[in-house]
Amino acid sequence: MSEGNLEFLQERLDGFVPDTAIVLGSGLSDLTDGLKDPIIIPYTDIPGCPTPEVPGHKGGLYAGTVGKHKIICLAGRTHLYEGLDPRYITMSTRDLKELGVKRFIATNAAGSLREDMPAGSLMMIADHINFSGKNPLVGFSKRPHFPDMSAVYTPDLRQKVREIANRENINLFEGVYIMALGPNYETPAEVRMFRNLGADAVGMSTVPEVITAVNFDMEVMGFSVISNLGAGLGGENLNHKEVLNIVGQAGSKLSLLLRKFLEEV
Ligand code: HPA
Repeated sequence: MSEGNLEFLQERLDGFVPDTAIVLGSGLSDLTDGLKDPIIIPYTDIPGCPTPEVPGHKGGLYAGTVGKHKIICLAGRTHLYEGLDPRYITMSTRDLKELGVKRFIATNAAGSLREDMPAGSLMMIADHINFSGKNPLVGFSKRPHFPDMSAVYTPDLRQKVREIANRENINLFEGVYIMALGPNYETPAEVRMFRNLGADAVGMSTVPEVITAVNFDMEVMGFSVISNLGAGLGGENLNHKEVLNIVGQAGSKLSLLLRKFLEEV
């Protein structure tokens, strides 16, 4: 999506005003199955929209209702490692704000930096470290340049999610997500460094969109589905297909959690 697409999207959404956006990462698209009467807009229909290159993405905007919320799911996202400017990557976030979105939920697949958080775990993001070397707000001066980042992942919403996870017997970790630019996975030395920096999981997405969402005064939540242990921590060598398999299984736990959350909060 791009900023110039606002009118196009409004026309296709035909009066549907979303309050919540969910970005679905690799292998996490099944949340879209729960949408009642969805409006589906493939990314390829949206003029100038970057189309994600990574397998495991359905590639489209899905609008519909879950519980008391009107939501837009972005199934598939573009990544900085595709070589796009961070401002381009976050255009969709800015369009979502203009469409009415107040609450932004990011999901991703990530590698664990802790042996006690194995593949298949679910981690709610408590905070993040931007290690990508890029920032979507650079040179983008519509808003104040210095947004406060002291409580990015809205504390009271996280408390609600903890309560739901407890009740539903979903084992939910909580921790710090660090974004690496990628596209390669980390070396064992990088995994040790990230752990020493205070991170619990590493991935290649989410942070640019979240920074933009904060800059546009949205409430933010984030979830990582742990697809593997980071290199050197004792797991298997990594390939994208295996990552997608594990994510698919753990992703259904995340879909359940998000569905309950949207019904109740
Ligand atoms: N590192 C970075 N990104 C990832 C990983 C990882 O180990 N697993 C899934 N996305």
